[in-house]
Amino acid sequence: MIYQPKDVFYRRAKEEGYRSRAAYKLLELNRRFRLIRPGDRVVDLGSAPGGWLQVASRLTGPAGRVLGVDIQPIEPFKEENILIIRGDVTSEECQEKITGLLGSRVDCVLSDLSPRLSGIRDADVRRSADLVRSALQAACRLLRPGGNFLVKTFVGEELKALSLELERHFRSLQRTRPESTRKGSSEIYLCAQGFRGETCDLMPTEGKLKSP
Ligand SMILES: C[S@@+](CC[C@H](N)C(=O)[O-])C[C@H]1O[C@@H](n2cnc3c(N)ncnc32)[C@H](O)[C@@H]1O
Repeated sequence: MIYQPKDVFYRRAKEEGYRSRAAYKLLELNRRFRLIRPGDRVVDLGSAPGGWLQVASRLTGPAGRVLGVDIQPIEPFKEENILIIRGDVTSEECQEKITGLLGSRVDCVLSDLSPRLSGIRDADVRRSADLVRSALQAACRLLRPGGNFLVKTFVGEELKALSLELERHFRSLQRTRPESTRKGSSEIYLCAQGFRGETCDLMPTEGKLKSP
């Protein structure tokens, strides 16, 4: 990937007070797919440093709630509708903590989860796919029927299998690359809408939530 440290979205994020340039991806995808509405309850998996949390907080408004989860610490927000917790979303413990905190099902689950990139393409694609499966498992636990799920992955041999898994659980699926995705990046977003309300049968292994 070509490294572009201070591109237009980076500079815009600085000017407009977003914590990351990733904020513009969610703004664009929400404009196109209406994933988040005022008053919604949203869970954001892999949310540090918090650009998506800021966007989701604005979209849901004061009547909505946004819960952010990351393995890395996240600086607190002034917005009162954002709650953050630290944890590994692939662990059973963390997923139980999220469900316990929420109490009831949510309208939208977002996942911008990224593995620490090794530069070995096939390994990175596989690790990203594992994160998508953990995020899907969390989404099946957390979403209300009809809810929406947006998840990042990388283009690669797992993409077709992941798309099929999502299609089993959602009424519609779009694959898309926002304009603000860096040139040369193989990231792609799967936008799944209309959760069918069925449980996800990926089996947890040794305390971690993994694909079979
Ligand atoms: C691309 S960043 C997210 C950027 C974020 N959407 C924003 O707008 O600022 C991906 C995040 O995934 C987190 N992550 C990766 N694996 C994780 C895991 N197993 N559990 C929780 N967070 C994880 C990383 O720590 C990183 O902060």
